Amino acid sequence: MGPPGPPTGAQRARLRYGVSTGMSPLASPDLGKKLIDQLRTVHALKRGALRMFDPMLAAVAAERDGGEMDEVSDLLAKMHRAFSAHRDQTAADVSMLEARLRALGSTPAHGRVLGISAGAAARARVGAIGGQNHGANARDAFVFEHLEIALLALLEQLAIRCGDEATAEAAREAKAHDEAMAVTIDGNWTNVLSLTLASQGLPTARTDGPRPGLHAAS
Ligand SMILES: [Fe+2]
Repeated sequence: MGPPGPPTGAQRARLRYGVSTGMSPLASPDLGKKLIDQLRTVHALKRGALRMFDPMLAAVAAERDGGEMDEVSDLLAKMHRAFSAHRDQTAADVSMLEARLRALGSTPAHGRVLGISAGAAARARVGAIGGQNHGANARDAFVFEHLEIALLALLEQLAIRCGDEATAEAAREAKAHDEAMAVTIDGNWTNVLSLTLASQGLPTARTDGPRPGLHAAS
């Protein structure tokens, strides 16, 4: 067996956030309980999101490699890269938040996934079978990132009031990932439209430069 490789994002998160720094002794037990509740909610939301990524990425990869959407194959590849990177960030965030939960003497909640995540997962499965609704997927992803941002912002503020700087920092770090993803989606509406039109067999009338899959000769 060779030497161990560099730690994964999830392992780094556990090393960094798994230390039991605890809350300020000045924090009231009621606030401490609220902090743990919020942490469990955000952790469950992100864990639900993580489950949603794999069927979605598989569906995008199938379209990218299927040859039926050549006109937008570059956009499918771009989308796959962006969501793969955010999937890895989300996995690290789940580990980081779980490490904070355990450091605070709690455990993850089971079976608590908010409806929007379950709905998006169902849509991803449908997409895997019969062509994706890219417009609806992008809309849901954009809303979902903002739901994550809002919950993480509240978690950060609550952690600050509890004197728990480690949880506040974990919330900030995860929030930065979701903010970056929301900005990425927001910068790609023209591409989302191209994907939507192409998946419906309509002309895309793309205006954004070279289209590798579009043959000039006819
Ligand atoms: Fe996210």
